Amino acid sequence: MTTKEDHRRLVEAAKSVRMNAYSPYSGVKIGAAVLTPDGKIFAGCNVENASYGLSCCAERTAILKAVSEGSRKLVALAVVGKSEEFTSPCGACRQFMVEFNPRMKVLRRGVDGFTEDTTADSLLPGAFNPAELSQK
Ligand code: THU
Repeated sequence: MTTKEDHRRLVEAAKSVRMNAYSPYSGVKIGAAVLTPDGKIFAGCNVENASYGLSCCAERTAILKAVSEGSRKLVALAVVGKSEEFTSPCGACRQFMVEFNPRMKVLRRGVDGFTEDTTADSLLPGAFNPAELSQK
């Protein structure tokens, strides 16, 4: 169970890390943050590269940080961008979310006031996730 206060903290963390976006090529700034069942938050921004395809989205940066610090169970993710179209996670990030929790809440927030709450599995119906059948 996540509370309104958890959501507020999570969105706030995503909003502040957005300022660290390294995006000299696109100019797009995205922040994301994930929440663990015990209330820990890991935040990440998009990090681009001159070799464009190497760029990492904010959502994956946040998930990579959590998992590499030992937190695999992720109950919610917030993504903050300028407006609605900048808060729609790419396919790779959706697959990354499903890997760690298909039921993960996804809080999409635009700095222009856009708000939508959804889940990882509704963003990626029919996802490939055989790992769910084994112990992660
Ligand atoms: N980006 C994210 O960080 N998250 C998204 O949900 C969509 C796109 C980044 C990747 C790239 O740095 C920039 O936004 C433009 O695509």
